[in-house]
Amino acid sequence: MGNHRLGPPEAFVLALCRETGIQVFVETGTWKAATTVWAANHFRQVITIEANAVRHQRAITNYATKYNDVIWIHGDSKLMLAGALEAVDEPVIFWLDAHEPKAHGPERGLVEAVTENPVLDEIAIINQHPYAADHVIMVDDVRFLDGSVTTPDDFEFYPELIDVILAVTAHDRLFVTHEDVLFAWPARWDYTARQFLGTV
Ligand SMILES: C[S@@+](CC[C@H](N)C(=O)[O-])C[C@H]1O[C@@H](n2cnc3c(N)ncnc32)[C@H](O)[C@@H]1O
Repeated sequence: MGNHRLGPPEAFVLALCRETGIQVFVETGTWKAATTVWAANHFRQVITIEANAVRHQRAITNYATKYNDVIWIHGDSKLMLAGALEAVDEPVIFWLDAHEPKAHGPERGLVEAVTENPVLDEIAIINQHPYAADHVIMVDDVRFLDGSVTTPDDFEFYPELIDVILAVTAHDRLFVTHEDVLFAWPARWDYTARQFLGTV
């Protein structure tokens, strides 16, 4: 897989959400909250979920006062996402970015019981949501899913790309992979979305 960026493609996300009226941004994997803070400046509602207590607490300490509309959730996204979406009764754009390559975590002393990539569980939850047919899904770091990264440690944690594609294309969503992100959107927005992404 070619380029990969830090965070979602901002201009695309803003253009698509303006066009479609999406006002809620949900992120899995807060990390240093760079994307969370960016989203908080553009979306009416932002929810972010982080499994690692140190990272979650750091994000709260640094940003919760200024961005007090953000819902900062500590926990495994597999367990927390469904509850987080219970109060959401409108379309969402998801930034699924919760992962911890085995090679990165324990050495930094930061991993606590995060042992597998949660993306398939996350998408299953999204597909159960009442507004599932209207949601836009972005899955970051496709290079970990498509075999581009050959570190054996990484493979242990990631599902196959085909299974992720099958999951995101439920509810007649169409998909594109671009710059290390898998995008999936309702078919009725396909041309608009691809125009904004620059893939048509
Ligand atoms: C690549 S970073 C996220 C970067 C961030 N989304 C951004 O755009 O700046 C991945 C984060 O996911 C967290 N994580 C890993 N597995 C998780 C899980 N099952 N649930 C929630 N967070 C998880 C890691 O602790 C790490 O902070």
